[in-house]
Amino acid sequence: MTIRIGDVVPDFEAQTTEGPIHFHEWLGTSWGVLFSHPRNFTPVCTTELGQVARLKPEFDRRNVKVIGLSVDPLDAHAKWADDIAETQGYAPNFPLIADPERKVSDLYDMIHPNASDTFTVRSVFVVGPDKKLKLSLTYPASTGRNFDEILRVIDSLQLTAQHQVATPANWTQGGDVIIVPSVSDEAAKEKFPGGWTTLKPYLRVVPQPGTNK
Ligand code: BEZ
Repeated sequence: MTIRIGDVVPDFEAQTTEGPIHFHEWLGTSWGVLFSHPRNFTPVCTTELGQVARLKPEFDRRNVKVIGLSVDPLDAHAKWADDIAETQGYAPNFPLIADPERKVSDLYDMIHPNASDTFTVRSVFVVGPDKKLKLSLTYPASTGRNFDEILRVIDSLQLTAQHQVATPANWTQGGDVIIVPSVSDEAAKEKFPGGWTTLKPYLRVVPQPGTNK
């Protein structure tokens, strides 16, 4: 199934390391990140899960629930956690879905047969509090993801949701942002009383809302 930006993401029931869940119910009113990794007890995946555990407070601060998935069974997730703690300094502190029957993997199109018939690729789905897909990305097994980048995207998405601004290329926290084209100059005067810089009528740059610039 292809899941596109703006679609309500499919709901499912699954077994996780923190007990059974209904995905939508588990998300509640939070943002969510659902990510798959190919296999337990593999090198790149070990580093990724350690990084997500290290960054968990950053996801929490943004009201984002994180959940991982692989086709490995529940007992393998538990055994692997010790290796992750030993080698990465952080044990998984978020639920991991056990999907040996590939129900969720198929629902979210996480198995790309020309890469592997058996294992999931590195998929990421960022879901908003409205349960709609805000971002998806797919990496091959050989490339570990940059979870700082995923936090950066979430910061951008949350700014858009709260302030009707978009973020330019290579934006990072505190950098100038762009007033979205659907906001008229008249409406912008109310939203951005400190003013903005018009580089082109369609390119209006404003300090990031919430910063003291
Ligand atoms: C890894 O995590 O290192 C990995 C997993 C599956 C295939 C190749 C690499």
